[in-house]
Amino acid sequence: MSDSDIADPGIARATGVEAEKAAAARTAASLVVDGMTVGLGTGSTVAYLIPALASRGLALTCVATSPATEMQARAAGLDVRSFNGPSSPALLDIAIDGADKVTPDGWLVKGAGAAHTREKIVAAAADRFVVIVSTEKLVTSLGPPVPLEILSFGASATLRRLGAARIRPHTPHSPDGGIIVDWMNPVDDPRSLCDFFDSTPGVVGHGLFPPEMVSDVVVSGRLLQRSATSGASGNSWVRLGG
Ligand code: 5RP
Repeated sequence: MSDSDIADPGIARATGVEAEKAAAARTAASLVVDGMTVGLGTGSTVAYLIPALASRGLALTCVATSPATEMQARAAGLDVRSFNGPSSPALLDIAIDGADKVTPDGWLVKGAGAAHTREKIVAAAADRFVVIVSTEKLVTSLGPPVPLEILSFGASATLRRLGAARIRPHTPHSPDGGIIVDWMNPVDDPRSLCDFFDSTPGVVGHGLFPPEMVSDVVVSGRLLQRSATSGASGNSWVRLGG
């Protein structure tokens, strides 16, 4: 770190966060083996994953959760297949993605990059879903905003039913045509909130990911796996390495 970095704490902090994202991405890339089908998430942490994965020179088949990821992965030389339609891969060996918030019991909030609907489909299709984050993503409990994607058809009615939700400013529709919305109320009981979102007509997807979807969390370079003894609401992670 240079003297000027020390003089500007903002730059020093950003450098640390970026180094942590890169370390998390490298650790996750090391979990991938030859022949795997790999789901690639979206965001600045995944942007470190793609070169780390490509540099391993493995024979991989990838699917991407956003046009930005698809473009970066193809440019890096990865084989990216379409995940559209019934002839796309039905099962993935592993999916790796970032998150905006991670609680000690494994709940995630995702979707700051507006790709949460596709990201959840890809995560759910994978045998193993690995979340890569820097330490500032670790929170003690969840709170707003929770990203949603709603259908354009009936959007006003859906927003009225949701109540405390607002259309995210300056954000294009998702690649599937959905409107990106942020839920702004407290998140006291994430499971009930998932049920509410899942049962609200017009909500296509939401950024709450329950613990049972998450296989591992890589925080900076440290690989943590949910302990076999922790339930869906358990608070138990074991450090595996790194
Ligand atoms: C995009 C996401 C991202 O994974 C999440 O926002 C984290 O992004 P970043 O790695 O840039 O902090 O959910 O929809």
